[in-house]
Amino acid sequence: MSLLHVINHPMVQHKLTIMRDKNTGSKDFRELLNEISLLMGYEVTRDIPLEDIDIETPICKMTAKEVSGRKLAIVPILRAGLGMVEGLHTLVPVAKVGHIGLYRNEETHEPVEYYCKLPEDIQDRLVIVTDPMLATGGSACDAIAMLKRKGCKNIRLMCLVSVPEGIKKVQNEHPDVDIYTAAVDDCLNENAYIVPGLGDAGDRIFGTK
Ligand code: PRP
Ligand code: URA
Repeated sequence: MSLLHVINHPMVQHKLTIMRDKNTGSKDFRELLNEISLLMGYEVTRDIPLEDIDIETPICKMTAKEVSGRKLAIVPILRAGLGMVEGLHTLVPVAKVGHIGLYRNEETHEPVEYYCKLPEDIQDRLVIVTDPMLATGGSACDAIAMLKRKGCKNIRLMCLVSVPEGIKKVQNEHPDVDIYTAAVDDCLNENAYIVPGLGDAGDRIFGTK
């Protein structure tokens, strides 16, 4: 069974509260998502391996540590997952970025694939899939399945707000994929939106409604 990491750091919770508020506009929403993504990135990357590197300080030679950062890929689920890329990229500037395009059919709520472009060596990398919303879990499960078909073996899912239904689906279908989330909300409504949630993440990031 995969692990569920709830990142309840006070600064993350504070920023998420502002994002949830319906009066928060797109500019602030984007900036806060960016900031939270960087903070969550600390936890998502907490156990990535370090390598020894020989350097020289102004005082003497030493063997120091560096992360194997070149082995990381960030894969946002379009559109809303894009809002979490910059924060992670600030943390790991050498990470490569792939894109998976999925949208939910408004009636069936099933994900529909429309785009996939991944780094050539994606199968050799730790892949962090980003999407602010884990609702039914359909989009995350499909994206992870696509990555596994490309040979990825080391995948983590980073979302902002989740619900038990979506978490359960990911854990059932992909028990090897750990989930990182800032909140586990109550339930889904009749339109498969997260309650209380924050509304439509893509629309709030890009101002499309
Ligand atoms: C939203 C969100 C997730 C998905 C979550 O995307 O960004 O990708 O819904 O729902 P699920 O867990 O039930 O699959 P949406 O389909 O609205 O597309 P958008 O990001 O382009 O707005
Ligand atoms: N997608 C969103 O953007 N918000 C939800 O609450 C559920 C799916």
